[in-house]
Amino acid sequence: MLFTVNQHSRCIESDKCLFKRMVLIMKLNELKNLFISYTENYLRGESEHDFNIKLKKNHSLLVADFCRYIAASENLSEKKADLSYSAGLLHDIGRFEQFKNYNTFHDAASVDHGDLGSQILCDSEFAEYFSSVEMRDLLFTVKYHNKKEFPHSDDLATLLTLIVRDADKLDIYRVITEMFNSDTAGLISHHLPDTHEYSMDIIEDILKGNQICYTRRKTRNDMKLTMLNWVQDLSFRYSFQHVKEKNYVEIICSTLPDTSDILEVKRYISEYIEKKS
Ligand SMILES: [Fe+2]
Repeated sequence: MLFTVNQHSRCIESDKCLFKRMVLIMKLNELKNLFISYTENYLRGESEHDFNIKLKKNHSLLVADFCRYIAASENLSEKKADLSYSAGLLHDIGRFEQFKNYNTFHDAASVDHGDLGSQILCDSEFAEYFSSVEMRDLLFTVKYHNKKEFPHSDDLATLLTLIVRDADKLDIYRVITEMFNSDTAGLISHHLPDTHEYSMDIIEDILKGNQICYTRRKTRNDMKLTMLNWVQDLSFRYSFQHVKEKNYVEIICSTLPDTSDILEVKRYISEYIEKKS
């Protein structure tokens, strides 16, 4: 077969692109393996302790996948999608040291895991995988992924943070709804009392569209209401569609008391999702 000079140079260019992409995929795989071995260093051979470490390892891997899906649905460049994946993978890097030192994931009773994570990431072996600009964006994302509010601007750090905040919530919906009927429910609700009560001020704030501060939760029902409130902090259409597909609002509400307040919240949140998806 005869090639023109142009066809020949186009082939060389596309081979070069393919090769570059393969190198980047290998680098991401290496990063993922490094993250997995990092988490394995925290295993102690004690079942409850190791359960928690594995829970966060698997959560991080799934958040990274969600970040990739959101990036794809937003048509981001491969470079931005790769960085979104990395941010998802590393967003909870502070959780392992937090659990080692305090034996809890409850920030209010220990340390802010976003702040701790950004300190850890800064001097870690993971830093070698990123340019200094990428690292700056990742540190911002890790620090602010768990804050009630964060400084927004029109830059990549803000975009990455919004992606991770959505992806994080999507996977926590999975974790918590799977645990509703298991013995481990207390672990993720920070042992809040499992009574029939819920706080009326939390209901009122949801209906006003306000974000609820975690420290206000008094019962396990309040925790579930806070999860419904998260929907109002989601940013991307992919996330609303996912929450809708998985029927999370229905699942969460089915474990809450059958009252007119809960019914009103359910209707309000379902309509909100419908509008955004
Ligand atoms: Fe987190």
